[in-house]
Amino acid sequence: MPRRDWFEISHEGWRRRSRARSLGRLLLEAVQNAFDAGASSLAIELDATHVRIEDDAREGLADERLVYTVFLTDKAEDRTKRGRLGRGLKELVAAMDAARVETIGVTVVFDAEGRREEPNDRTQGTRLELCRTFDERELREARALLRLCIPPKGTTLRVDGRASRRPKHLLTLGSCELETIELEDGVERAVAGVAPVSVYEPRRGQVPHLCEMGVPLVAWDLPWHVDVGQRVPLEGGRDAVPERFALRLKGLLLESMIHRYLETKDLRADWVHEVIARTPVRTSVLDAYVSRAYPRGAVLGGTRRANDRARQLGAHVIDASTLSHGAYLALSRVVETADDFVRRRNTELTGEPVEPDETQARFAQAVRWLARRVAGRVVRVAFFARDPSDAGLLEDANCDADTKLLSFNVRGPLRFDDVLDPTTLGVVLHELAHLDTPEHDHRFIDRLQHLAGLTARVLAEGGPELAAALRKGEP
Ligand SMILES: Nc1ncnc2c1ncn2[C@@H]1O[C@H](COP(=O)(O)OP(=O)(O)OP(=O)(O)O)[C@@H](O)[C@H]1O
Ligand SMILES: [Mg+2]
Repeated sequence: MPRRDWFEISHEGWRRRSRARSLGRLLLEAVQNAFDAGASSLAIELDATHVRIEDDAREGLADERLVYTVFLTDKAEDRTKRGRLGRGLKELVAAMDAARVETIGVTVVFDAEGRREEPNDRTQGTRLELCRTFDERELREARALLRLCIPPKGTTLRVDGRASRRPKHLLTLGSCELETIELEDGVERAVAGVAPVSVYEPRRGQVPHLCEMGVPLVAWDLPWHVDVGQRVPLEGGRDAVPERFALRLKGLLLESMIHRYLETKDLRADWVHEVIARTPVRTSVLDAYVSRAYPRGAVLGGTRRANDRARQLGAHVIDASTLSHGAYLALSRVVETADDFVRRRNTELTGEPVEPDETQARFAQAVRWLARRVAGRVVRVAFFARDPSDAGLLEDANCDADTKLLSFNVRGPLRFDDVLDPTTLGVVLHELAHLDTPEHDHRFIDRLQHLAGLTARVLAEGGPELAAALRKGEP
């Protein structure tokens, strides 16, 4: 049972709160009310001292108490209405120095003397006249916000005589299940409701907004205006929506738009990352995301060594440091890590072991000698056979630094009959440099330069005799 006479209102407090809202936000309260009343035309005129708002809704205000009784509403039960708090119009009036609310048969006047009612001969619609000094900036911002409204079909909205154009409609998702507000036994409750959600391309210079049945609620970081066709849960009066609601809506939009409407550059946006990192996205959406947002053969960055190796094997390594923890976990459901990729490829790439023939045995001798002489290491040398079946992934040679084993592919282009062939010698020195470092980093380059320089000197000092001996595998 509602209890009468428990409370009174502090007029000063009410005014203080109401004045804190921007002019544009306050005027949207009048727009919301006119849309709710089913007006087919709504005109708003603004100047430095007055704002006038007039609609042609057939009914007008049903009861003049609705104009001045804070929290009195006749829409609470009606899910199709935007209003429900019973305070918007009162906030708008309270934020002014004077106001007139003219509706069918009666005008409520607010001025320095107080409030009074006067009869009038109005037959339809409502007209508000609001007085205060408005500065240029608040007028400019208010006009911009009013022009963001997306009037219902059949309604025109004029701001300073100019009809607002609807933004370009992109698509409508027919039935989206989203949190909404309903009244149950006189108490507001959050429930799940199904409603259409429409997506619009903002017009030039417009900041994308989340809207509730055509009335902008908050600016957001999506590239479109998104209009929800039912009540949206609100926070802090009417000027914020709960984060969980926005996130859920963004998730629905990503799911429905990823296949057709989003380009690769759109997928790089923060909101997409946010959805992936913070909501349980379907695997099919993640798959579509990865295939569109990254080049083919993407793997998730792991250890530096694995990343380097994965790149050599032709993979695109996604830099893990650019991903949040949540996004990394989500992507790891559909993308292999660099470490796993390298492990898998290594087993595939080992190839068949081959017993060296005489030429290869001589080559092995020469490699072992070079390893000792220029790299100061004792190594083992082995041979394997592998066809260049995987495009570009054929290995000429590899080095296992842990077991000090250098392996050479007998189906590759290496000249086992001439260890001093420039390409062949280069590959040998490359693998010897890997004994010190597995990556192709600066340390590796330094080491390789040193080995090449030292080899050149050893060969120069050894002259043609050493060269011939090396070729024969008898240095
Ligand atoms: N332009 C209008 N035409 C017809 N009725 C109106 C108009 N403006 C206000 N009303 C009536 O006045 C009531 C109070 O409006 P007010 O904006 O204060 O609250 P509300 O719209 O019900 O809720 P909210 O605070 O969420 O906006 C509304 O419920 C509606 O019945
Ligand atoms: Mg209202």
